[in-house]
Amino acid sequence: MQRFTNKSVIVTGAGHGIGRAVAERFAAEGARVAVNDVNEARAREVASAIGASAIAIQADVSSKSQVDVLFDRVLAAFGTVDILVNNAGLITAERHFLEGDEQWWDTVLGINLKGAFLCSHRAAHIMARRSSGVILSMSSGGATRAHRGNVAYDASKGGIEAMTRAMALDLAPYGIRVNAVVPGVIRTYDLTDENAIERGKVVPLGRMGMPEDLAGPTVFLASDDARYITGECLVVDGGVLSQQRSVPVDTFPLSRFPKIS
Ligand SMILES: NC(=O)c1ccc[n+]([C@@H]2O[C@H](COP(=O)([O-])OP(=O)(O)OC[C@H]3O[C@@H](n4cnc5c(N)ncnc54)[C@H](O)[C@@H]3O)[C@@H](O)[C@H]2O)c1
Repeated sequence: MQRFTNKSVIVTGAGHGIGRAVAERFAAEGARVAVNDVNEARAREVASAIGASAIAIQADVSSKSQVDVLFDRVLAAFGTVDILVNNAGLITAERHFLEGDEQWWDTVLGINLKGAFLCSHRAAHIMARRSSGVILSMSSGGATRAHRGNVAYDASKGGIEAMTRAMALDLAPYGIRVNAVVPGVIRTYDLTDENAIERGKVVPLGRMGMPEDLAGPTVFLASDDARYITGECLVVDGGVLSQQRSVPVDTFPLSRFPKIS
């Protein structure tokens, strides 16, 4: 399918993990993609793997001046912005709450929440003038169910979901849809296969997610098939948030499930 031919897409934090898979999927469906990352080597590597339809743009989304440079460069290269994916996020900022401090809070909220605000604000002004556009953000199960040692991260993701609903209302009259994607336990960091299998056991679908598992749902929300969806958070987590007890500790174990032949 070439659903995004002539569409201009920005994916932040696209030099690795989920953002990379999303950028590659948009490009495979015909879009011109701006691959943003704070890490320039990563952005360049992904853009060159995608080919001529991609450009690499190094920028730190927590800095207004760098976000302005990012958008100015995309406008110069592609002429407009049809779709923004706020994906950049710090996923390794765990600290016990008692050991947190102002800098920790400001760093995590600065990248994960303020970064999404700065990019969305620039994108919304461009999109409102054309009465069309889509803004998506990566949330986390931590927005509604807590991770231990992640007060700042979970607060940032709760903010993303609240901001998604609030931006959806403010921007709907301008033809701009705003939604979030809620990934579960996704294998984007170094992990042995043994550890990944172990972590996958807590997931109802029986495995950790891969970055590519997020790509289809994300581009769906950006597509015309989702034209009547706004202000929503689409959970893509293999069933994690739906369960009360995880598989290994449930009182009704998988061993009691009927064998169907
Ligand atoms: N991996 C998971 O299990 C998981 C679960 C829930 C939500 N998420 C969310 O999905 C998104 C992507 O996560 P991931 O696991 O692919 O992460 P990742 O660490 O694999 O990739 C994130 C990328 O963002 C870049 N980045 C970091 N700070 C940046 C900044 N200030 N400006 C621009 N780029 C920056 C990093 O250099 C990196 O390349 C994040 O928002 C994360 O919170 C991930």
